[in-house]
Formats: sequence, structure tokens, C-alpha cells
Amino acid sequence: MIAIDDKFCPESSHLIAETFTIPLLSQLSEIPDFLLSWKETDEGHILELNDGGKSPISIDFLAGKKAHRRQFGGGKGQPLVRAMGQLENTLPNVVDATAGMGGDSYVLASQGFEVTLIERSQAVAALLFDALQRARLSEDSEILQTLQHMRLVHSDSAQYLRQTADQVDVVYMDPMYPHKKKKAAVKKEMAMLQKMLGADTDSENLLDAALHKATYRVVVKRPKGAEPVFHPTIQPSTNISSPNTRYDIYSIKALKASGQLSE
Ligand SMILES: C[S@@+](CC[C@H](N)C(=O)[O-])C[C@H]1O[C@@H](n2cnc3c(N)ncnc32)[C@H](O)[C@@H]1O
Repeated sequence: MIAIDDKFCPESSHLIAETFTIPLLSQLSEIPDFLLSWKETDEGHILELNDGGKSPISIDFLAGKKAHRRQFGGGKGQPLVRAMGQLENTLPNVVDATAGMGGDSYVLASQGFEVTLIERSQAVAALLFDALQRARLSEDSEILQTLQHMRLVHSDSAQYLRQTADQVDVVYMDPMYPHKKKKAAVKKEMAMLQKMLGADTDSENLLDAALHKATYRVVVKRPKGAEPVFHPTIQPSTNISSPNTRYDIYSIKALKASGQLSE
């Protein structure tokens, strides 16, 4: 169970509690397994997720690894960006169906893609919401431009994709993979997400919804050497590999032309 500590920043806590249906700690009689709480910093309050351990997690688009990845990550040449492809005169819009800590979405938005970030976990969606709010206070015009390309939706993506009337060019998926390596080898953020959320065991359903909604591509991030996400009839059309990661690309046009996907 998760709750938000409303002792500090009560207004923001109430907003997050209502938006993401998260109980307020002050109204609980039991101790939650995971707690969202506010850390005071020189830059203001940052929402953190705690599991009782020593290392809470939070999202900061402006500092640390995410900023480094944006500045030095290789721009348009990086495999993630190349995997999204290019429409005739414009970049495709992207639904990031597994937004997580928002790192991939932020890279794509910084390269000019319109990105809808979809996250079903209440806690992770709340961290993303807080990170986006804080980043909007930045005075850096490049960052503000990137944020204009990012829209957060708290939903299950398969459900969203089956219901939305919006045109979706690319669906991007990076489902949680059951890691077999020792914990130390899994990044701190991913280790806590795995502890809280477990592996994403319904990726097959999400892939099917994505294939039926995307008009241009579905791109699935996999650890190098892993099988593609299972689908009874459809295999990736091609892939782009980097040292630890493979991006499986499903070309909608090619799948329709071969009759594997109905028109
Ligand atoms: C491995 S993480 C994604 C990491 C992300 N690419 C990043 O850069 O931080 C997977 C995330 O996808 C979310 N997720 C998995 N399946 C989903 C679905 N069907 N709808 C919405 N979110 C989903 C999980 O809750 C988890 O937060």
C-alpha cells in the first residue's frame, strides 16, 4: 500500500492525493509499504518515494543523469531517437506507453518529438507530475521548449490506446523486464520500481493494443539477447542495437502489406 505524507506541503499533497487517488498519511491508521514525502532543498520541495530503505527515489529532469543524457547523449544519432523514425516532412508523435521515470520521454521531447507519457502506477505518475511541475519553473528556454512537448496521462496504456480518438504515429514501450542479475547491478530507481511494481507481465496485451493503434511504428526496448515481447502472429520487422539494448521495430505499413495486420 502507498500513501502521501501531507504533514508538509499540504496543498500539493492534497492535489496529488486527489489526482492520483493516493491516500493521505494523516488519514491512515496503518503504516504504508511505500510513502511519498517531501524533501526540502534549496530549490524547493521535491517529492520522493520511500520504501523504508535508505535510498528514496525522485525525478529531476534538470540535473543528474537525465540532464547529462540530454546534453551528451548523442542527439539525433542515439539509437532510441533513430528507432522512432521520421515521417515525410515531420517527426512522428510518440506515445510512451511505459513512461516510468520519464528518462526516455525526456530525451525524445528534447529532440522535438511530441510525447504523451502514460504511466499506470499512481506513485510513479505522481513523481513524474512533480518533476514536470518543478522543471516548468526553469528559466532555461531549451528546457521549457522540451517540456512543451511532454504531456502526462495517468492510465493503463493498453486501455488508453484502445479508447483514444487521437492519431498516434509511434507507440514506444519499455516494459519492466524480470532481472535475473544481482540487485546491485540494477539501477537504484529500477530496483525500487521492481520491488513496488514487479515485472510487467501483460506486455503482450500492450503490444497488441499498440500494433492496432499506431499508424507508423511500434518500438519495443529489450535487453540485448532477450526474446521479443511475445505476440502470437507478429514478429518485429527490424531492430536497432546498442551495447546493452535492442529496439525492436514493428513497421505498421510492412505488417499491413504482408497481411499480418489487418487494414
Ligand atoms: C522499465 S519502466 C520504464 C522506464 C522508462 N523508459 C524510463 O526511461 O524511465 C516501466 C514502466 O512502465 C509502466 N507500465 C508498464 N506497463 C504499463 C501499461 N500497460 N500502462 C501504463 N504504464 C505501464 C510501469 O508501471 C513502469 O513504471
